[in-house]
Amino acid sequence: LSYQVQPYPGGLAQAFLLGEAFIGSDHVAMVLGDNVFFGHGLNAHLKGAVARANSHKATIFGYYVNNPERFGVLEFDRNRRVIGIEEKPAHPKSNYCVTGLYFYENRVVEFARRLTPSARGELEITDINRAYLEAGALYVDILGEGYTWLDAGTHETLAEATNFVRMTEKNQHRK
Ligand code: G1P
Repeated sequence: LSYQVQPYPGGLAQAFLLGEAFIGSDHVAMVLGDNVFFGHGLNAHLKGAVARANSHKATIFGYYVNNPERFGVLEFDRNRRVIGIEEKPAHPKSNYCVTGLYFYENRVVEFARRLTPSARGELEITDINRAYLEAGALYVDILGEGYTWLDAGTHETLAEATNFVRMTEKNQHRK
């Protein structure tokens, strides 16, 4: 298999263009290298996402945070249905961010081809998620109580994540 190196930092959704030949006619899962997920029962959530990909639906995972402006953020209606997603909004419409774990079916390559770069010059994963939302094919799975999600993308949050892994291994006696 050949692979292509990212020619410039063109955004997360660029992955589906660079990986097009590798993806072929398969479904796609993408996880960001600086994200940490932990919680009993996570497997069932992942299996659910694969099952939905088989029915042409995408799955993303929401998580409650205190600093949503740093992430992709969900907007809900009164019935707690997701009606919008914004990338790093100055005025977040909820405290639920979109974590860096994405399951798509093969249409994602086509959606990625249609994207235009955002104001920061990137093909945004949030625009892919919005395309699925508008197509009525997005399932948002909220990882609630009992789950830990960490984005270790800054030195501070990396230190926090390191501590979390250390404490979990020490006190829960598991890897
Ligand atoms: C990226 C995504 C964002 C998501 C976040 C999760 O942000 O663009 O929607 O909430 O990962 O870690 P970035 O790493 O580009 O700041």
